[in-house]
Amino acid sequence: MLRSHHLGQIGEGLLGNELTVCGWAERIRAVGGIAFILLRDRYGVLQISMEGMADQEKIGREYCLKISGVLQLRPQENRTQDQNGNYELIASRVEVLNKSLTPPFMIDEREEINEEIRLKYRYLDIRRRSMKDNLLFRHKVVEAVRETLNSLDFTEIETPMLMKSTPEGARDFIVPSRVYPGQFFALPQSPQLYKQMLQVAGMDRYYQLAKCFRDEDNRKDRQLVHTQIDLEMSFVEQEDVHRVVESFLKNVFKKTLNIEIETPFPYLPHDECIRLYGLDKPDVRFGMPFFDLNEVFSASDYPGFSEVLAQNGRIAGFTIKGGASLSRKDLDGFSEFVKTYRAKGVFSTKFVGGEFTSGAAKLIPQTQVKNLKVLSGVEEGDLLVFVADKAEVTNAALGWLRNSVARQLNLIPENQYKFLWVTDFPAFEWNDETRVWDAKHHMFSAPRECDMEYLKDGQLQKVYAVLYDLVLNGVELGSGSLRIHNASVQKYIMQKIGLSDEAIEQRFGFFLKSLEYGAPPHGGIALGLDRLVMTLLQLDNIRDVMAFPNSSGARYLLDDSPTSVPLETLDELHLEVMPE
Ligand code: AMO
Repeated sequence: MLRSHHLGQIGEGLLGNELTVCGWAERIRAVGGIAFILLRDRYGVLQISMEGMADQEKIGREYCLKISGVLQLRPQENRTQDQNGNYELIASRVEVLNKSLTPPFMIDEREEINEEIRLKYRYLDIRRRSMKDNLLFRHKVVEAVRETLNSLDFTEIETPMLMKSTPEGARDFIVPSRVYPGQFFALPQSPQLYKQMLQVAGMDRYYQLAKCFRDEDNRKDRQLVHTQIDLEMSFVEQEDVHRVVESFLKNVFKKTLNIEIETPFPYLPHDECIRLYGLDKPDVRFGMPFFDLNEVFSASDYPGFSEVLAQNGRIAGFTIKGGASLSRKDLDGFSEFVKTYRAKGVFSTKFVGGEFTSGAAKLIPQTQVKNLKVLSGVEEGDLLVFVADKAEVTNAALGWLRNSVARQLNLIPENQYKFLWVTDFPAFEWNDETRVWDAKHHMFSAPRECDMEYLKDGQLQKVYAVLYDLVLNGVELGSGSLRIHNASVQKYIMQKIGLSDEAIEQRFGFFLKSLEYGAPPHGGIALGLDRLVMTLLQLDNIRDVMAFPNSSGARYLLDDSPTSVPLETLDELHLEVMPE
């Protein structure tokens, strides 16, 4: 090694010793003829003092240095609470291992740096403590996941990165074949088909930290390439899969945050979840469940309500404790907020002096006031908010409003991690645009045994699947299901979601064939590793837990990809780019 110690090893035991350390010059200042450098390596920082050294002028910020000297205590008055804040290395020799250009930003936590610049100079951004710590934390998460899964007899198996295009909801990234003109591979959106075929192959208990590629629109919790903790098991019921996930998460929390999480996690069936929280990924760290108001307002002659009720819509609301003190402006803000979710607005009424006093109070049928008090659990000084619209609009608008209000009013307890298994999802959802049924999660999820009759009759709206999501603090961490292991049921479902026999054969023939060779009952799940790390660290930007993420504009700013390629490359691939 070029050094005798790294900066995480500095301590009392080394006082008076001659050390050699290596790192980068984070800060440089000169006081009365002595130059002080704050040296940084992966493990920490240490102050170097250089008295009367001829070289000192030649050292700039972020130069890579090798420094030898004796470790001493700093004078009492100069000691700090920072790491190694009691020590300094009195340098006797400083070697510049490499110079640095002046960095485009200070490598300093306190600096607000434009994210595009951070991504363009990611190698400098990762020198910043928070980014470095996030990556080290991510490594610990991975280590704990592997530790548990290995101990539970799971086998890590890699699956292909080039495969047939079998989109799983998002668009595929396509790779042209040089050898077969006009033919293309796709990058996997997930290892779904392969992990299922591994079960057919008898490789019970598979896992993989799988790279998944999805050409989808960017969001704060989405990337073009993400990593899944992907697993699949044979001869299982859904609870077996859940227990495995809980065990590795227990280990992750213990090893990374030293928190004992309670397992098993609570269960909430999908429809109940929507009824209570409007969303299938509710944040259950705080209360404010919805109450149904269809009955209350069935006695109303207000057209806004009767129209909604006539069209099987939903009127529902929640109570904001102490919300009567909110201003007109706050309430207008709520109405603006729900418009993003296509709702027309929010009704609200304050409960003051033992009665509903403002806003929508006059719309409450007199006969229903008592009923509403009971349903809403309203108390003096509270505010009721409610939405009347198509059921899916009411659910989404109110669900996101509930989250937003909780954040705005600081109702979310800090440092709490609340898990939820949302189960029994509908197997299909109607797509208004394409006018066909889509598979809710993916088409490989097994319908519940008790719903097979509905499936046979084609009453798809009544078919639920053994399909589960894991939700943590309102974030969808993972999704999985028991799978269809019967080829004809699988084919039937593909037909029901609008695939022609030809398309089924062409796209999934190989997979259906595998199911015909004694496929075992099996099931699994995939958790987004990036989302897990982000949630553990209580961050809201997925890019902060990834070394080299894409930008919000779906580009990689570091190498400026995607780019055009030389014409010869296109020729070799038998491709031609159409002018825009
Ligand atoms: P799904 O598509 O729900 O399921 O993905 C599983 C989990 O992966 C994470 N995730 C993402 N993270 C970051 N960026 C993205 N673009 C992105 N897309 C998904 C989420 C999500 O819950 N094959 C199935 C799993 C299975 O059934 O076993 C699948 O991929 O945390």
